[in-house]
Amino acid sequence: MKTENIIRTFVEFFEEQGHRRITGSTLLPPKGDPVLFTTSGMHPLTPYLEGRRHPLGRRLVNVQRCLRTTDLDEVGDGSHLTVFEMLGSWSLGDYGGSLSLRWGHDLLVKGFGVDPGLLHATVFGGDEDCGPDTESLRTWEELGVPVELTTEENWWSNGPTGPCGPDSEIFIWTGDTPPTSTPTGDERWVEVWNHVMMRHRRGEDGTLGPLPRPNVDTGMGLERLAAVLQGKGSVFETDLFEPWMRSVPSLWPLDEPSLRLVCDHLRSGIVVIGEGVVPSNTGRGYVLRRLVRRALTTLWRGDPSRSLGDLPEDLISHTLDHFGQPVHTGPVRDVLLDEERRFSRLLERGRRVLSQSRFSGPLGEEDYGYLHDTHGLPRDLVRGLRGGTPG
Ligand code: ALA
Repeated sequence: MKTENIIRTFVEFFEEQGHRRITGSTLLPPKGDPVLFTTSGMHPLTPYLEGRRHPLGRRLVNVQRCLRTTDLDEVGDGSHLTVFEMLGSWSLGDYGGSLSLRWGHDLLVKGFGVDPGLLHATVFGGDEDCGPDTESLRTWEELGVPVELTTEENWWSNGPTGPCGPDSEIFIWTGDTPPTSTPTGDERWVEVWNHVMMRHRRGEDGTLGPLPRPNVDTGMGLERLAAVLQGKGSVFETDLFEPWMRSVPSLWPLDEPSLRLVCDHLRSGIVVIGEGVVPSNTGRGYVLRRLVRRALTTLWRGDPSRSLGDLPEDLISHTLDHFGQPVHTGPVRDVLLDEERRFSRLLERGRRVLSQSRFSGPLGEEDYGYLHDTHGLPRDLVRGLRGGTPG
């Protein structure tokens, strides 16, 4: 099943159950939100999960693009991406968690054709703040899906304060031989869908209180689901990355982790530029700068003459088009090339300064301070030039 078809199947399923699709799924949170980028499907809905009325009603469905920098160092494995899309459904004080899980089971089995014998669920087993989620446990038992109880892994919050609650995760078995272990014991159980029974709110003092009304918040990573449904070992082998995997290896021969990192960071960078962000030393611009520079560092490690000017135009247009952004490839390319020039000049200056004899031994805090304040050379770049990897 192609990704576009997965999205359509998901949205139509929930529309048939009375959900309205939220349009607009920008990466940029609304003004006043302290977080730089949208990090999950529920993130833009926080005020509504806290009780405000949503103009589209109490049943919502969405495909939300998200950006997480917490996983930056994991990019290169088979499942982590910096920009990814989350399929989500919400009950704002409407139906309860049990119905949400039943729909989840129905959609996976009937809509996506997953063998029900390959499903496993995890459920919140309770801790000192909150009792076990017996309703979800009973629902899975009725559906004939095996359950593993956990505590930390089955509690979801988007931050230290705000809406939160116990969750139930659905896993699909991807091994070649039948499973002999539960989801926490074997990573061939791939987590695809999280259903959060969002009934609580954590206050500034750390205590839990009830939300004005109980909600259900679900989220399913599109790329990971596509990999499972398409029988691929990694998100990079799905149809979403097909144009990248077709062009980049012949353009820049790279080992597999480097290839994945370059494709992830450039694709993410293009989406962020498509949102109107430009590289800078603070905030969103700094995240973009890090993505582009990490990609360049990886490319230049193999061959310093490589340039983003060689990036095929259709990779930029394919990415902008997929994310529904205006397909103006020229300005995106200009931003990438401008950043490449700046980074190249900075590295040149860095090499020149670091070749001075006073920097030949180990560097202390004072040296790092001087290199940063006088020459604009950040610590990680200095470390990279001296043999590590600038991040
Ligand atoms: N908000 C939940 C998650 O991101 C569904 O996993």
